[in-house]
Amino acid sequence: MGELPVTLVDSFGRIHRDLRVSLTDRCNLRCTYCMPEDFGAWTPNAHLLTRAEIVRIIRVAVECGVSAVRLTGGEPLLHPEVVDIVRDIARLPNSPKIALTTNGLLLERLAGPLANAGLDRVNISLDTLDRQRFVEITKRDRLKDVLAGIAAAQEAGLTPIKINTVLMRGVNDAEAADLLRKAIDHGWSLRFIEQMPLDAGGIWSRATMVTAADTLQLLVREFDLEPTGGRGSAPAEEFLVDGGPATVGIIASVTQPFCGNCDRLRVTADGQVRNCLFARSESDLRGILRDPLLAEDLRDEAIGGVLGASVQSKLAGHGIKDPLFVQPARPMSAIGG
Ligand SMILES: C[S@@+](CC[C@H](N)C(=O)[O-])C[C@H]1O[C@@H](n2cnc3c(N)ncnc32)[C@H](O)[C@@H]1O
Repeated sequence: MGELPVTLVDSFGRIHRDLRVSLTDRCNLRCTYCMPEDFGAWTPNAHLLTRAEIVRIIRVAVECGVSAVRLTGGEPLLHPEVVDIVRDIARLPNSPKIALTTNGLLLERLAGPLANAGLDRVNISLDTLDRQRFVEITKRDRLKDVLAGIAAAQEAGLTPIKINTVLMRGVNDAEAADLLRKAIDHGWSLRFIEQMPLDAGGIWSRATMVTAADTLQLLVREFDLEPTGGRGSAPAEEFLVDGGPATVGIIASVTQPFCGNCDRLRVTADGQVRNCLFARSESDLRGILRDPLLAEDLRDEAIGGVLGASVQSKLAGHGIKDPLFVQPARPMSAIGG
C-alpha cells in the first residue's frame, strides 16, 4: 500500500473525523419533508455498494483519521447485512465509534444484535406522538413500531438515545413541548432539527419553516431553558431543561449554520463522496472500487486520495442563506442524513 493522507484537513483547517455512510437509499417511511409518497428514482441495485466495499471505504477513512462512523440512509436497517457491517467496522484496527440513524421501525428485532455486534448508539427519528399525525407525516401507520424500537434500543444499552424531530408549521409544531416532556420522562435526549431544503418533492419553504428561534419560543412557554454552551463540532445547541439534568438540543442548520466547525464527510449508498449535505458535486469511489485495471494494492491509496481531495475542496459553508442557493439534485434520502 502506498501513502495515505494522515488526516483529512480542508483548506480552512477543519479536521474531518466524522464519516456518515448511507447503506441504502430505500426507506420504509415516506416522510413528507423527505420523499414524496410516489417517489421512484431509486439507485439501481447494481450501483449500491456491497458490504465489503462499504467496510473497505470505512477502513481507509479510519486510517486517514476518521474516529466516528454513522450509518444512515434511506433506512439503514433495511440493509440485509447491517449487523454484519457493524461487526466488520467494530473489528477494524482503531475501530471508530459507531452510531446509526434510523426511523426505528425495525429496531425492536435488531437493537440487541446491533449492540452485540458493536454498535455504540442510535439516533431515532420521531416527529409526533399522535398516531394519526404519524400517518399524515410518514404515510405509514407505524408509530407503535417506532416506540417499541426505541424501548428495545434502550434495553440493549444503545444509549444515550437521541431522538431527532423535525417540526413543521401547522403539522406538529404544537407538539414540541409534549415531545420534550415525553423525552424527559423516558430519558431520551431530544433534538429539534430545522427542516432543510433537501426534499425530493420540493416542498421546503424558507418563509414557513419552523426556525430554531420559533422552537425555543414554543418550549420556553412550558420549560425553563438555559444554554449549556461549548458545543464544539456538535450541530446541536444544547439547553438545560428546568435546571437539568435533562437537556434538549436545537439544530439550526438553516438559520444559524455551524459550518465553521463541520468535521463531517459523507459517502452515499452508490459510493459517491460528498463533503457537505448541500454539495453540488461528488467524487466517485465506486469506480475506484470496481476498476478492473487498478492494481489491488493501489486501491486503498486511491480511495484515500479521493477522500482527501474531497475534503480539500470543501467550501466554507453550505450557502443556504445565499439568494443564489440551489438545492442539491439528490434528496436527503439519497445522500444520507
Ligand atoms: C434522511 S433520515 C435517514 C435515516 C433514517 N431513515 C431516519 O429516519 O432517521 C435522517 C434524518 O434526516 C431527517 N431529515 C430528512 N429530511 C429532512 C429535511 N428536509 N430537513 C431536515 N431533516 C430531514 C430525518 O428526520 C431524520 O432524522
